[in-house]
Amino acid sequence: MTDAQLPFAAALESLAKCVPQNLIRPKVGIICGSGLSTLAASLTDTVYVPYGEIPGFLISTVDGHKNSLVFGLCGDVPVVAMLGRFHAYEGYPFQKIMFPVRVMARLGVKNLIVTNASGSLNPNIPVGTIVVLHDHLGIPNLSGFNPLLGPQHDKKIPRFLPTSNAYSTSLRRLFFHAVHELGFNLDDFAEGTYAWVSGPTYESPAEGRFIRAAGADVVGMSTVPEVLAAKEEGLEVIALSLVTNFVIIPDTYRSIKAEVKAQLEGKIVEDPLQPVVSHQEVLEIGLKKAEIMRAIVERVVQKIP
Ligand code: 6GU
Repeated sequence: MTDAQLPFAAALESLAKCVPQNLIRPKVGIICGSGLSTLAASLTDTVYVPYGEIPGFLISTVDGHKNSLVFGLCGDVPVVAMLGRFHAYEGYPFQKIMFPVRVMARLGVKNLIVTNASGSLNPNIPVGTIVVLHDHLGIPNLSGFNPLLGPQHDKKIPRFLPTSNAYSTSLRRLFFHAVHELGFNLDDFAEGTYAWVSGPTYESPAEGRFIRAAGADVVGMSTVPEVLAAKEEGLEVIALSLVTNFVIIPDTYRSIKAEVKAQLEGKIVEDPLQPVVSHQEVLEIGLKKAEIMRAIVERVVQKIP
């Protein structure tokens, strides 16, 4: 499928039928990541449109995703939020993963706030930190799976999209002003580079070490496709990543050979617990920090000129 075959007209028409006039031209779009659907709790006059009712939209199969587009007012600013997003690991084609962002742009959205859950690779970025992304490392982009591969569907969009300016400096500035105004400590927030991997596996120790060595601070399975689509559509983008766990990268490997040798010599060898990441902990941290994320996002929306 190419973008030219995506049902833009049908999607816009179905939204126009169920969303009232004062909400149908949102200024800001928000993508709510894992455990972050409560971001929409700041909105009033809300209208929920289930993804199943919008032509071209998919259904997210991930636990913790609500599968609706919600239109509403944040203060007096009309916004649209995606409760749940689509991921490459669900087996969905990139064109369809990026479609909602392109629909938002056609509704009039000029600023996109993207959120996600991630694993930290940086010892200075603890679990629970909100990281403002200043760059990304798209592992699939470097290995033949760039989400924008394909025919040029719109001559107005550059064939060779620059990504050095993907994350808006002005929105990031607004973010840190909002943090200060709400009485939070700027030092409890980080700036960093997000590595995008396709998933669905969490990183092996060697993969984690590789991504860390390449300069990433956090790693996750989303965001970059939507950011690329947003930049093609000419939007200003800010991406906020909530660290839900630490990527396990041991300095050394446990030697089973040494353990067996010790056992053969009659020594008692303990079997240590091996920690692993779970989606459950990702959702729990999301719930705890979602309120802070919500307050800041609400403030940022108010501050966008
Ligand atoms: Cl550790 N890895 C990836 N790829 N995505 C994550 C994560 C880790 N934690 C939350 N999302």
